Amino acid sequence: MGRRGREILDTPVEPIIQALRAAYADEWLAHYYYLHAAQTASGINAPQVASMLTARAGDELTHATRLGERILELGGTLPADWLEIPRLSNSKRIEFPRKTSDVIGILKAVLKAERSAINTYQELSRMTRHKDTVTHELSEELLADEVKDEEHTENLIGD
Ligand SMILES: [Fe+2]
Ligand SMILES: [Fe+2]
Repeated sequence: MGRRGREILDTPVEPIIQALRAAYADEWLAHYYYLHAAQTASGINAPQVASMLTARAGDELTHATRLGERILELGGTLPADWLEIPRLSNSKRIEFPRKTSDVIGILKAVLKAERSAINTYQELSRMTRHKDTVTHELSEELLADEVKDEEHTENLIGD
């Protein structure tokens, strides 16, 4: 990380890198599980849910990329081994229903993951406020995206 960029941090950098790495792992897991669900969903409502999940999987990968950039800027490292991803992640896995035609069950699992992401970025925003402006702004942008994701998912479920 650039010298001046590091000097302006008003907080130890390690806890922030740790939180960013956990969020990074969460986003990769969401990307993978959403894409898997998109490709395997079956039944009458599958095409609509599949196209939503494919788009969402892309958004979560963009989130992972942006978090990765910030981790590197702060002098942290990205896990080189995929096996580290579930270990670092807050959620470990997303539990989809066994029945691939259970589209409501799939959406409920997505909703749970989106709510967990809201909690993650709310906490990251809180811990960086007035201390690490760049990470703070990133966490607010991602928080806004996850709030939209939650609402969109709720609307599809119809709750
Ligand atoms: Fe995300
Ligand atoms: Fe999301």
